Amino acid sequence: MTNTLKAPLNQPEAPASPLLRFYRSSLGKKLITGATGLALATFVLVHMAGNLLLFQSREAYNTYAHHLASLGIGLYAIELVLLAVVVLHAAVGIEIFWRKRQARPQGYSAYQSAGGPSYQSLSSRAMIVTGSVMAVFLVAHLLTFKFGTYYTTELGGEPVRDLARLVVEKFQHLPYVVGYSAVLVLLGSHLRHGLWSALQSIGLLNAGVRPLVVGASGVLGGGIAIGFLLLPWAIYLGLVS
Ligand code: HEM
Repeated sequence: MTNTLKAPLNQPEAPASPLLRFYRSSLGKKLITGATGLALATFVLVHMAGNLLLFQSREAYNTYAHHLASLGIGLYAIELVLLAVVVLHAAVGIEIFWRKRQARPQGYSAYQSAGGPSYQSLSSRAMIVTGSVMAVFLVAHLLTFKFGTYYTTELGGEPVRDLARLVVEKFQHLPYVVGYSAVLVLLGSHLRHGLWSALQSIGLLNAGVRPLVVGASGVLGGGIAIGFLLLPWAIYLGLVS
């Protein structure tokens, strides 16, 4: 007699871990996109402010970049977290987009308010497009600057990377300035909707403050885009060299 073990049919799946269940739930996805979005917006704001140092001098810009590079393993850790946050934000954002599309296969022929004031805008409908462009931009951006030509200069007798030279060199060319300008307008649009939407997803907004926060998001999104735009144009026009 053969004694073979047969796998029972319709064996129930092992229960998903609480973390996986959280990730799969609508609430989890909203919280993840909201929190990761706010973290990325914070990075973008700090990065924009750092760029403005080139208005002060090449030394100030290179000193700042050198301080960051001196963090060594700490910087690698920050970059790893940043990468994970970008990937998570994009993955969950794409999933939310597909779920919404599947729920409405015809797409939106008309955008109507469900009763209260509607916060639908071109920015909110274009999130998947502006986000996708930012993802492609990011790869090209890192190749241009982070992994671009490694010029060196001296700061206090110490050899350091001359990032200022690379930035000035690139933005002396109109195609770079125009390309960055187009992307930064899309970044402004993404932030305009993304900032208040993130706070809403985390549950920090109520009907009373919502209009104010929606307005503030537009101002902050526009302000960050303009803050970034200043440098390429100033370099191209010869105001920063
Ligand atoms: C005029 C606009 C911009 C300029 C001049 C600029 C400049 C730079 C430079 C020079 C670096 C290399 C830093 C280093 O290696 O230490 C860098 C890195 C980076 N930039 Fe930008 N950037 C601009 C806009 C943006 C925007 C709009 C984003 C994101 C939406 C962005 C995201 C990043 C990221 C993620 C890194 C890598 C940071 C790291 O690994 O430490 N940048 N940028």
